Amino acid sequence: MSNLNKILLNKISCKSIWFMRQAGRYLPEFRKIRSNNPDFIKLCLNSELSSEITLQPIKRFDLDAAIIFSDILMVPYALGQNVIFMKDEGPKMSEFDYENFLDNSEKSFTSKLAPIYKAIEITRKKLDKKKSLIAFIGAPWTLLIYMMGIKKNKTELHIDKLDSKKIKINKILDELIKYLCIHIKNQISAGADVIQIFDSWASLIPNDNITTYCFTPNAKIVDFCKKEKIPSICFPKGIKKKYVDFNRFVKPNGINLDPEINPIWARKNLAGTVLQGGLDPRILLESEEEIFKGATKYIQTFKDIPYIFNLGHGLLPETDPDKVLRLIKFYRNFNG
Ligand code: CP3
Repeated sequence: MSNLNKILLNKISCKSIWFMRQAGRYLPEFRKIRSNNPDFIKLCLNSELSSEITLQPIKRFDLDAAIIFSDILMVPYALGQNVIFMKDEGPKMSEFDYENFLDNSEKSFTSKLAPIYKAIEITRKKLDKKKSLIAFIGAPWTLLIYMMGIKKNKTELHIDKLDSKKIKINKILDELIKYLCIHIKNQISAGADVIQIFDSWASLIPNDNITTYCFTPNAKIVDFCKKEKIPSICFPKGIKKKYVDFNRFVKPNGINLDPEINPIWARKNLAGTVLQGGLDPRILLESEEEIFKGATKYIQTFKDIPYIFNLGHGLLPETDPDKVLRLIKFYRNFNG
């Protein structure tokens, strides 16, 4: 069993380090492949290349876990919505069509995403048995944000778009949950052994709706994982003190901290759940001294409880891979 799984399942305290967005943007070896593959979706559906990209950070840094190279938007894509990735503008999706959305089947969904499952199979064969292979999904709310274009900017919503479809939202959420669980099951059958659930835009949910749009959908998916004995890590980014309610309601094996969460507060208020991450990825743009100081805060705070070292969000594209290497060495040599 990998260290990551030992921590998540048995709550044993041992060293384990990986990074969100470790496979991608900041690595020159990724950018080289990317420059020859302008269609991002096609790249995600190229099993050989996807596996190669997944393994790039493992080869370079010998991390404890690989995360499969794919995207959360592959699910809406497989449910019939076109996605294009515009440089510096983020992903753009074609208009959401309710009738088309309801007209999907498990068979066509699974066959559209088959290359991802193949990539997982290839990767599992090549990956050291002691390392985890993490698969992931976007939480329903975060997917809705992209599918319906609900986000005005980083802090505001087009509330009207949400209100006008309100009657349908619960049906859409349930339908998404159904397909997300299928995607989880398929990824685990192919050889992944942990699921991370990204609710990257949970911070945008109006206060009164947090249970409906965040807690309940995450809980339904985590319950499915528990039934299937799949360890899960949730990431309800940006919900501040509501991390406590989330944790009580959803009860995942692990929870990823964002940079706003004070680690000492988290240790006290999220006790019993395995904690992961927290370090601000922007720190990796600073001096080595700052990086080590920032990392020490997390390592010290969690030194005697199960903790998975990671960041509070994905590695930034402008990160220098050498600094990532120095942080990994610092973590591995840390005995405090
Ligand atoms: O973690 C990994 O290295 C595995 C691969 C992975 C990608 N996206 C590849 C990717 C994972 C786990 C994701 C998750 C993802 N995708 C999230 C949740 C995590 C988070 O960062 O909040 C979200 C919200 C998305 C949606 C998405 N995909 C956006 C907003 C963008 C464009 C901006 C960006 O982040 O790069 C993408 C494209 C994307 N997904 C790239 C990569 C490597 C960049 C593609 C490029 O080269 O242009």
